[in-house]
Amino acid sequence: GTTLKASAAEKGRYFGAAVATGKLSNSQYVGILNSEFNSVTPENEMKWDATERSQGQFSYTGGDRLVSHAQANGMSVRGHALLWHAQQPPWAQGMSGTALRNAAINHVTQVATHFRGKIYAWDVVNEAFADGGSGGRRDSNLQRTGNDWIEAAFRAARAADPGAKLCYNDYNTDGINAKSTGIYNMVRDFKSRGVPIDCVGFQSHLGTTLAGDYQANLQRFADLGVDVQITELDVMTGSNQANIYGSVTRACMAVSRCTGITTWGVRDSDSWRGSDNALLFDGSGNKKAAYTSVLNAL
Ligand code: XIL
Repeated sequence: GTTLKASAAEKGRYFGAAVATGKLSNSQYVGILNSEFNSVTPENEMKWDATERSQGQFSYTGGDRLVSHAQANGMSVRGHALLWHAQQPPWAQGMSGTALRNAAINHVTQVATHFRGKIYAWDVVNEAFADGGSGGRRDSNLQRTGNDWIEAAFRAARAADPGAKLCYNDYNTDGINAKSTGIYNMVRDFKSRGVPIDCVGFQSHLGTTLAGDYQANLQRFADLGVDVQITELDVMTGSNQANIYGSVTRACMAVSRCTGITTWGVRDSDSWRGSDNALLFDGSGNKKAAYTSVLNAL
């Protein structure tokens, strides 16, 4: 193929980008998005602080706009993210215990119900594991409601939208390490007890090196019976950027249950990583060496 989406589709995969809906009026941005990508993830618009600004009052303006754009242009949508310790509305940040648990599960139910039938995969829970060597859960207001908050969220999401794949998503899981192993053990436990989980997202916010066991890590999760996806890929600029992009792409293509790759933005100027120039298109919309490396690896 001559585009990311066409080449990925030839291999039965999607190629996606995180989108800020405010940029859909920028013709250069939307031109690249529509020609190269066939999946979108809302960069912020489906997060808790955006969708439930006041408790029980839901607003879906940005998310609905992105879903409309996706449907009009043959793109699938990754929903992101139902529960996360960050970007919670202030009212939720101040809650705890049963009240927070009930509010969180209601949030999952309401948002997943609103978008029912329109989402390919939901990041049901984002970034719930701790960095470092513990392999355990991250401390958060949600975690303090009880260790079973993650499975409760997945069960609520399944009930609300039975057609969406349900993913756990995290970062610093780019090789076999304590954090990724903690997640691996949770997924294995969920599968053994029938807790609904379909996929694991590997954010893949990368620096100037890539773990040598990146592919092996994806494969061990796939071997548990879940799909894997590269969900927020960006790579620090430097001499190795194109190589790392190529290696990540080859790793996904080598794992049959790796169903797609999403970069966390379109142009360097759109990236949350600012001066890292971490994406596939430069600030003028030109294809970078990293783009060619990905295209050749698909
Ligand atoms: C980032 C967005 O790109 C920024 O616009 C926002 O200010 C903060 O969040 N991991 C995630 C994403 O799961 O939701 C984050 O997105 C980047 C890190």
